[in-house]
Amino acid sequence: MTETATIANVLGSELSLEELWMPFTANRAFKRAPRLLASASGMYYTTVDGRRVLDGTAGLWCVNAGHCREPIVRAVQEAAATLDFAPGFQMGHPYSFMLAERVAELLPGDLDHVFFVNSGSEAVDSALKIAMAYFQSKGETQRARFVGRLRGYHGVGFGGISVGGIEPNRRAYMAQLLPQVDHLPHTHDIARNAFTRGQPAHGSELAEDLERIIRERGAETIAAVIVEPMAGSTGVLVPPKGYLKRLRELCDKHGILLIFDEVITGFGRLGAPFAADYFDVIPDLMTVAKGLTNAAVPMGAVFVRHGVYDTVVNSAPAGIELFHGYTYSGHPLAAAAGLATLDVYETEGLFERAASLAPYWEDALHSLRGLPHVVDIRNLGLVGGIELEPRAGAPGARGFEVFVDCFNRGVLARVTGDIIALSPPLIIDKSQIDELIGTIGAAIKAVA
Ligand SMILES: Cc1ncc(COP(=O)(O)O)c(C=O)c1O
Repeated sequence: MTETATIANVLGSELSLEELWMPFTANRAFKRAPRLLASASGMYYTTVDGRRVLDGTAGLWCVNAGHCREPIVRAVQEAAATLDFAPGFQMGHPYSFMLAERVAELLPGDLDHVFFVNSGSEAVDSALKIAMAYFQSKGETQRARFVGRLRGYHGVGFGGISVGGIEPNRRAYMAQLLPQVDHLPHTHDIARNAFTRGQPAHGSELAEDLERIIRERGAETIAAVIVEPMAGSTGVLVPPKGYLKRLRELCDKHGILLIFDEVITGFGRLGAPFAADYFDVIPDLMTVAKGLTNAAVPMGAVFVRHGVYDTVVNSAPAGIELFHGYTYSGHPLAAAAGLATLDVYETEGLFERAASLAPYWEDALHSLRGLPHVVDIRNLGLVGGIELEPRAGAPGARGFEVFVDCFNRGVLARVTGDIIALSPPLIIDKSQIDELIGTIGAAIKAVA
């Protein structure tokens, strides 16, 4: 254990930081100057040294109802004491059936079947496999290609990084990615759309690139197109007006399934249950995680249109229809957390609350226009992106310094390179929006 890897008096004991290999973290730098959270309640974290930190990111875009909500805590405790685990293969338990029924009631169109997984990454890989299984069932066995999008984030499974378009996440694994994948161009266009409030006016024509891929590959070889309806992790890219509708039309025209990855946008983030509702574009498959259980217990899901489920299940010979699933699919604790989370969303009207706060949020965010190095501000629902001009020769450095400065001032923000991404719990109030945006502004000025 090195000296830098120890901090004293953490929760009353010495804490070694050495052994844990942290995910998506600069391990060496972190262990020299750690940022440790000890507890959370509502809109705030408390650090191990007792500082209060306003959560501007709902954890990692997931704690939509705020932290340690009593009904969710209670439901998880009760489930843990009643049914700690039950096998999900050839066996079942009421919690997962109840959650599937509840969530299906929320879904738009004829999305009405639910396959449970444990994370967004698993949801994406499961959706890709369901798409392939669907075409196998239909006898269209050559439909196996996928189309993703540059700058897309679909988690870290081999399927997800293959259809995803974030280069650093793919670089070390390029030699073994899924072989039959093409990418649409991303929709980020500061030259035409900088400082747009809501959906940008320019860029719907980028959907037409799907026609180019179809011409090159043949529609009959493409199983599915997967996109985030609003790209989050790459730094908040709001889809241009008309873009998603056009993708839907092209997929329909060519018999291709459309998958929306709603791991971030699901469960109220945009002020509607799902981005599919917000944009009025219904995908064939939808992947979710995060807000499904308010992140209290890990859980993800694939939502599936009626016809896709029917085709796969009813065309199979007797026996298991889909050879896929996880030990913890539909885990009782996660399902109990999901049921309680949906109750909180409903009884507190949190999706509507997000919609009604969105104009105030938008004004607050755009008040940062004009601060040093701010080259774009974007927003939708309760999501905000503030893009900073990279420092010459040091991309990402300015963004990271703003993130650290915010944390020291008592605000948790998130950065992707030089883009600050904000997504507070939907319970945020106007004074907390002011506190959040005021702190971000102060940090941007201090770092400049
Ligand atoms: C759109 C999208 N898909 C998939 C994932 C992966 O989810 P997880 O980290 O739970 O595997 C994320 C995570 O941020 C995401 O934003």
